[in-house]
Amino acid sequence: MSHAGELNPESDLVLVVGATGGVGQLTVGELLAQNIKVRVLSRSEDKARQMFADQVDIVVGDTREADTLPAAMPGVTHIISCTGSTAFPTARWEFRAASTRWEWFKRYARPSYCRAQADNSPEKVDAVGGQHLVDAAPQDLKRFLLVSACGIERKDKLPFSILNAFGVLDAKLVGETALRESGLPYTIVRPGRLIDGPYTSYDLNTLLKAKTESQLGIVVGTGDQLSGETSRIDLAAACVACLQNSHTEGKVFEIMSEGARPSTIDWNTLFSELI
Ligand SMILES: NC(=O)c1ccc[n+]([C@@H]2O[C@H](COP(=O)([O-])OP(=O)(O)OC[C@H]3O[C@@H](n4cnc5c(N)ncnc54)[C@H](OP(=O)(O)O)[C@@H]3O)[C@@H](O)[C@H]2O)c1
Repeated sequence: MSHAGELNPESDLVLVVGATGGVGQLTVGELLAQNIKVRVLSRSEDKARQMFADQVDIVVGDTREADTLPAAMPGVTHIISCTGSTAFPTARWEFRAASTRWEWFKRYARPSYCRAQADNSPEKVDAVGGQHLVDAAPQDLKRFLLVSACGIERKDKLPFSILNAFGVLDAKLVGETALRESGLPYTIVRPGRLIDGPYTSYDLNTLLKAKTESQLGIVVGTGDQLSGETSRIDLAAACVACLQNSHTEGKVFEIMSEGARPSTIDWNTLFSELI
């Protein structure tokens, strides 16, 4: 049964996971602009508090640690997950040992070795963390929206074969599959390369007023056919619009910023074209 309808400021509570990231911050901003109650799951209470002050409920948790997730779930009606790590090894992979040149050489030369040395690689965040989040979600959830990536079904084709050199698309596919097989009402959104933002040094008031800097329109499609760039601001708006739209339930779709921008984005018409 579809629960899609306007989000209710009185009774709905949206959990945003990855809220301190580029898309996550903008998603929280979009929800607050619509007066919707928001809870964020963050690895750092200080970081979340600095960004969102007391306008959201903050629960400290880490998707890699399943036992930290149930505390975030009471009363949650919708989940938006926009967690992620970098596609290629960076400090955000949280490597275990101190790096020597030899160590770096081995890591870049052997992706499997690289992943084994990292605590927060895409494998940990998108695959392990994604499964944990699905397992912890309330059974009566109205919608679980996962931000994934385009190219998952084209991993053997350029440029996605390069993007997937360290397994980011493999890991995202595991996360997508966990959600699709969960029985929860879901939507999976696959953006292209993200543009606009991430506004990491901006305060909440700026986020609430964030407007896309591009003059581009929005194109959506299914079957992993589209590629290109996606505005983080439009993506965040799309995530919130999806929760309120029945056409997007049980759908996996790509979203790109391209073409001429209309005066208003008609999400319902865009989503009604999804097959
Ligand atoms: N960048 C691109 O071009 C691109 C293209 C396609 C798809 N995507 C995907 O789009 C999504 C959003 O991208 P973005 O640029 O907004 O990402 P981002 O700025 O890197 O934010 C990632 C978020 O995930 C959180 N996170 C990381 N590991 C976590 C863990 N173990 N437990 C809980 N939270 C964790 C981070 O929290 P902390 O603040 O604690 O680090 C942060 O809030 C990601 O899934 C990304 O892979 C990106």
